[in-house]
Order: sequence, then C-alpha cells, then structure tokens
Amino acid sequence: MAAEASSGGRPGAYSATMKDELLSKIRDRRAVVGVVGLGYVGLPLAMEFAGAGFHVIGFDVNERVVRDLMAGTSHIQDVPGEAVEKHVASGRFEATTDEQQLRRCDAISIAVPTPLSKTRDPDMSFVNAATETVARNSHPGMVIVLESTTYPGTTREVLQPRLEHEGRRIGEDTFLAFSPERVDPGNPTWHTKNTPKVVGGITAACTEVAAALYAACIDTVVPVASAEAAELVKLLENTFRAVNIGLVNEMAIVCDKLGVNVWEVIDAAATKPFGFMRFTPGPGIGGHCIPLDPHYLAWKMRTLNYKTRFIDLASEINSEMPEYVVRKIARALNDDQRSVKGSRVLILGIAYKRDIADMRESPALDVMRLLEERGAQVDYHDPWVASFRENGHSKSGVPLNQEVLQRADAVVIVTDHSGVDYQMVADHARLVVDTRNATSKLKPSRARIVPLAADRQSDKA
Ligand SMILES: NC(=O)c1ccc[n+]([C@@H]2O[C@H](COP(=O)([O-])OP(=O)(O)OC[C@H]3O[C@@H](n4cnc5c(N)ncnc54)[C@H](O)[C@@H]3O)[C@@H](O)[C@H]2O)c1
Repeated sequence: MAAEASSGGRPGAYSATMKDELLSKIRDRRAVVGVVGLGYVGLPLAMEFAGAGFHVIGFDVNERVVRDLMAGTSHIQDVPGEAVEKHVASGRFEATTDEQQLRRCDAISIAVPTPLSKTRDPDMSFVNAATETVARNSHPGMVIVLESTTYPGTTREVLQPRLEHEGRRIGEDTFLAFSPERVDPGNPTWHTKNTPKVVGGITAACTEVAAALYAACIDTVVPVASAEAAELVKLLENTFRAVNIGLVNEMAIVCDKLGVNVWEVIDAAATKPFGFMRFTPGPGIGGHCIPLDPHYLAWKMRTLNYKTRFIDLASEINSEMPEYVVRKIARALNDDQRSVKGSRVLILGIAYKRDIADMRESPALDVMRLLEERGAQVDYHDPWVASFRENGHSKSGVPLNQEVLQRADAVVIVTDHSGVDYQMVADHARLVVDTRNATSKLKPSRARIVPLAADRQSDKA
C-alpha cells in the first residue's frame, strides 16, 4: 500500500511527492493495478496490465466470472484462456469478489456497465456502486480512472465528491481521470494495446499520472485537457457512428423506393479517395455501445435545455429498421402467395454483428419478436450463439442443413457471420431476404434473393 507522504507544510510539495512516487511505481512496475468489472472492457485491460509486468487485481461482483478466471478460463472472446491461465499461474493476475483487496492497489480502472433504464435514461447504478466500492477502499497515493462510457461530467460530479468524502484530495494525494475504452469485440486488427487511448484528468496532475499508467501498457496515449473532454470524445465517436449508420439506413430506404441497388451506390461512392467514409446499412444497430451511448449525451443535454436533434433522428431511423426488414419479409412472402402468419422463418445470425457471440441489443431479437407477433414460426441458426434467454424465455438454435433450409418459407440473413456457407443456403432455400449483402457474389441458385434495398429487378427475378 502507498505510504502517506508528508507535505511538510509547503503548498504543492505534498502533491509533487505523491505524484512522483506514483509515477516512479508505475515506471518500475511496483504499482499494483486494480480493474473493477471484468467484462468485455475490463478483462482485456487487466491482461494488458499483467502483460506489461504489473501485479493486477481484478475485482468483480460476479462470483462465477471470478471463479472461472481463477481456474484459467476466459469468458471474453477476445481474451484467450491461455492468457488468463498464464497470468494466474505466474501470480501476475488474481480475480476476486473481495473488495478489500482493492486497498492493495495503487491504480484502479473502473469498467462497469452503463446501460439505459426502461425510459432510455442513463442507468448509473453500476457506476455508483463501483464508485462506492472504490471510495471505501481508497487511500492516498492512488490513481483512479473511470472507463465506463458515460455522460460528460460524471467523473467530476459523481466520483470526485465521493472520493473527497473519504478524505481524498483530488490532484494532490489522489489522481482521478476518465479514459474511454474503444474496444471493438472481434476486431482482429485493433485491440486494447494498439488502439490509441484518450485520457483526461480532473487536474493536469491527474492527467499526467493516468496517462503514465496507460502508457505503460498501451502503445499510444492521447492526453486531453479535462475529464469532460475525454468523456465527450467517446460520445462523439459513437454518436458519429450512430448518425452515419442512420444516414446510410435512410439511404437504403431511399434506394428501395427508387429501385436502385444501395450496395452499388455505396461501393461506388467509396471509390472517392477523400471526403467520404463507408458505412453500411443493415437490420438495425446492436451491442452495448452504438444504440446506448448517444442517449447519455442526449440526456445530459436535455438537463441543459438542449435537444440533440441528430441523435434523436438517427435513433428513430435505426430503431425502425427491424420493422422495415419485417415489412420486406412480409412483401416477399406475399409474392409467394404466403402470409407471415403460419410461415416458417429461419433467421440466420442473431448476434449483433459478424463473428461475435454478443447479442446485447441485437436487432435480430426485434425482427424475431415482430415476426412472432404476426404469427410466424421463427427458428434461428447462429454458429456463435447456441441458445439464449430473453425476458425469461429461452430459445435454442437449429442446425443449418438442407432439410432445415428446405422447410423454411423464408430465410432471413440478419447477421452475416463469415463461417456460414451462403451458397449452400441459397441453393436449398426457397426465399432468402438478405439484410447484409452476404449473397451478392453467389452463383445462380434455387432461392429468390431479396436484398435489404435494391433494384426492383432482383426483387422480382
Ligand atoms: N463492450 C464493448 O464493446 C465496449 C466498448 C467500449 C466501451 N464500453 C463501455 O465499457 C463499460 C463496460 O462494458 P462491458 O462491455 O465491459 O460490460 P460487461 O457487462 O461485459 O462487463 C461488466 C462487468 O462488470 C461487473 N460489475 C457490475 N457491477 C460491478 C460492480 N459494482 N463492481 C465490480 N464489478 C461489477 C459485471 O459483473 C461484469 O463482469 C460500459 O460503460 C460500456 O459502455 C464497452
């Protein structure tokens, strides 16, 4: 545990002593690093710190997660079990549900969930609980960094007062910052270590210490002037994606009405070497970030009497996409003299994006629900998701074979996992509604293929 340094009564000396001691501990890896919340964000981060030579204490409230990690098993796709096993065996990494272990830490990163409430307002209960835990176990000589995506002002308005209540002096004996996580689950190129990390502290000293901590295990650290700037960076990034996905989804609807192939338009526009960035339409947005994060900003701005119109509009268009897809399916079935009611529909891919198992906020769930409400019999196949539970109901996937395909009145590609043989699908299915352009390069097949948005020719062919 860090020793409490004496200020000797000189202003600034206390701060310099604590800061220098912490920086020195980070430099020579004597600093013990705590990670609170060992999920998609926290576990990869914990592994990076351990890999960089720190002793890492992972704290999570979920006993199963902790037990499995201590047994060398990873529950996060991007973190191989061998990495966990190696760091547990070497003593570099320990997972615990005992919050008092956090007292041994010199640095703590918090990566707990930030969902939305039923009314789509920020649900800060996890951040509040983690703040309580960290504050209760804090001591002078600590750097504390919030990583959970949240509204601008959280670090200063929620964490700082709680830590000060415990007697911590922010910027003097305790260093507090925000650093957004940018992990992209399943991305083979960009991961925690090589994705630049933005860090913004409550004071300049806070930024300096937090930046030094991350520089020890992440290739590029980008300091910004305040915690609020760092909080807003993450919200800008994800709002940018939500708005552009909303735009391209609207473009798909436009193309559909005009009888133009949206994929052809996007591919051709993307040949422009400047001033255009490729986004692709789909059945809606999913995951823990894009559908949720912009609402943290919208909520905060509502408290300041400002309406974030781009966020609201993009959210409206993106959340209507499952309805649009279901109307496509209904029209396509109608062309086959069938109604949705009583039809067998096979959904291909239910994870929220390609080649991952995460189905949080997946638009596939909405597509399924809407079809079932209209009386369809819905099965699904997803090589990454054997079964799932939602609202107390569980559903298991079916195998993907000729018999299943032939039995379906419509096959709907919602998520285009790369391991699926789409030629086999098109060769045996009767009707394929393709929301992801997964079938564009197939040889002529038995199935009539209906794209998300395209020329009427292919729709009618
Ligand atoms: N998943 C992503 O791709 C991603 C990317 C960037 C940012 N983020 C953000 O990072 C944050 C964490 O997201 P995640 O996807 O890692 O969540 P997650 O659900 O995968 O993991 C969160 C972990 O925190 C634990 N937890 C909950 N309350 C706790 C508490 N009080 N103390 C200790 N542990 C607690 C849970 O048991 C869980 O293991 C969120 O704010 C999210 O928006 C996520």
